[in-house]
Amino acid sequence: MLGKLNHVALAVPDLAAASAKYRGTLGADVSEPQALPEHGVRVVFVDVGNTKIELLEPLGEGSPITAFLEKNPAGGMHHLCYEVDDILAARDRLKSEGARGLGAGHPKTRAPGKPVLFLHPKDFFGTLVELEQA
Ligand code: CO
Repeated sequence: MLGKLNHVALAVPDLAAASAKYRGTLGADVSEPQALPEHGVRVVFVDVGNTKIELLEPLGEGSPITAFLEKNPAGGMHHLCYEVDDILAARDRLKSEGARGLGAGHPKTRAPGKPVLFLHPKDFFGTLVELEQA
């Protein structure tokens, strides 16, 4: 079921500063910022060839990463995203295995045709897991 590592996500307190550091200090290929109001975040992607790094900052009230940044004010690793071929089949399998989905296990769409699901960190060794339909 589990496919490639699509990205590693880091929550950061200041997306412009984090983008500048990745671009300048690390010489990385950083995308333009993208607002995802449905997910309560603004993101950039850093292309590192074999995978991507997603840098996230909170967007709007009640962002899902606000509490994380209160606990980790300098930022930190927030989630891993793996690809799956069929998000609904993955959801049903995980449900039958007793894993808890965040957001009532209902896939949200990030990009056209790319629904995502988040799995509870308590079920996966303290790490939030995102699944994205490849
Ligand atoms: Co992600």
